Amino acid sequence: MKKNLVILSGAGMSAESGIKTFRDTGGLWEDYSIQEVATPEGYARNPELVIRFYNERRKQLKDVQPNLGHKILGELEEHFNVTIITQNVDNLHERGGSKNIIHLHGELVKVCSTRDPQNPRLVRELAEDAYEVKIGDLADDGSQLRPFIVWFGEPVPKIEEAARMVDTADIFVIIGTSMNVYPAAGLLDYVKPGCEIYLIDPHPVDVKSSLPIHVIRKGASEGMEELKKILLTQ
Ligand code: APR
Repeated sequence: MKKNLVILSGAGMSAESGIKTFRDTGGLWEDYSIQEVATPEGYARNPELVIRFYNERRKQLKDVQPNLGHKILGELEEHFNVTIITQNVDNLHERGGSKNIIHLHGELVKVCSTRDPQNPRLVRELAEDAYEVKIGDLADDGSQLRPFIVWFGEPVPKIEEAARMVDTADIFVIIGTSMNVYPAAGLLDYVKPGCEIYLIDPHPVDVKSSLPIHVIRKGASEGMEELKKILLTQ
């Protein structure tokens, strides 16, 4: 019987692939204001700026590759029932071979209706050779196509599904997130008694929990190599 391995990943998971994190030195929020590019108010005020910001980040996906950490997570599906819960909007977990992924904060490669962003019938995946959205590109409800991203202040529709998966975990691994943003950071509270918890991050992370956590103070690739050895020799 395979054990349930549940992962909560953040921007640090993709750092070694060359994608900036948000709150590290040199992070994305040093160059852009969250208000301007990651809130519905910012989008309403200046849709062109926001659409351009995500066009740039989407196009970067063509220049980056999954790192060893993503690939090891893909390989672990042979040994565990793996669920990836990610705050990341890139497609590197998919490209690293993971199959069961919950994107809490949306997906860069998708666009949706401005009027009804959570309506799945109006969500579209952009073809790689058409990674640009322009003002005037409309969803099937006639409203402007916008990035399929959960902005600050917007609902996180997949959080209940994610919490249910954490509740089933025999092993819960937090990797590459500063645990600053809720409700994602609150998922740690859903682990059941006896669940083994690991945290992989090269820097200290205040997880605001008294639960026993096995910290691997390394980057995603080295940390996943170490974790794989631990999990496969259990
Ligand atoms: N390997 C693993 N972790 C790393 C690496 C690395 N090579 N480099 C940095 N980190 C860690 C940092 O130490 C930090 O703890 O990754 C974490 C990145 O934290 P944030 O930049 O805050 O990113 P994240 O936690 O994913 O942000 C959560 O905030 O801006 C919103 O919606 C956005 O999903 C994002 C959410």
